[in-house]
Amino acid sequence: KVGESTNIKWHEGAVDRETRERALGQRGCVLWFTGLSGSGKSTVAYTLEHELFKRGKIAQVLDGDNIRHGLNSNLGFTAADREENIRRIGEVSKLYADSGMITLVSFISPYKKDRLAVRERVGDRFVEVYMKIPLSVCEERDPKGLYKAARAGKIKGFTGIDDPYEEPVNAEIEMEVAKEDGVLAPPRDMAHKIIEYLDAKGFLK
Ligand code: PPS
Repeated sequence: KVGESTNIKWHEGAVDRETRERALGQRGCVLWFTGLSGSGKSTVAYTLEHELFKRGKIAQVLDGDNIRHGLNSNLGFTAADREENIRRIGEVSKLYADSGMITLVSFISPYKKDRLAVRERVGDRFVEVYMKIPLSVCEERDPKGLYKAARAGKIKGFTGIDDPYEEPVNAEIEMEVAKEDGVLAPPRDMAHKIIEYLDAKGFLK
């Protein structure tokens, strides 16, 4: 019995992950972008997807806003719904990584225990990318006008305003604004930093 399922059996295929990865010339992994709304998670993830393609590597973005239109359209923003949102996408990202895909996951994922659960489920192919952008900068950018709406009380339980964001302490990669001027590096520079990391760890061979 697994969870609520009974009489189920795990099947192994004849083509294992290593064989698939050798054919693809890359190792499947999960790059987990976490950070406040407006911190640039999706922008960097899509830029990285493109930069990897230019190098002949196959990546796929799984983006919070998009997934909430389909697979997770029955979930809102309560703590329980966010937990289920992250659990499901953690499982989906593992399936993608098992298929050899460089999987770029872009969700706020505000709660430490939910991110940790995915990290443990995915194993050593999990790479956390923390978009360490101060709330003040995200709020100033406010690309969708959501902070304004949250401050006006029109959105309840908005991350960073009246719902917590628990910062990662052990992220493999951190993206920060420049100390001197508080300005964000261009997305392509951030993407290149991540590519260097992936290369060094042998995910791109
Ligand atoms: S979570 O916390 O990981 O389950 O959130 P996620 O699936 O990434 O969805 C975040 C996007 O939903 C919009 N939105 C909200 N965000 C935070 N709090 C509340 N209450 C909320 N309501 C709607 C918002 O556009 C987020 O998009 P991003 O891309 O992060 O800016």
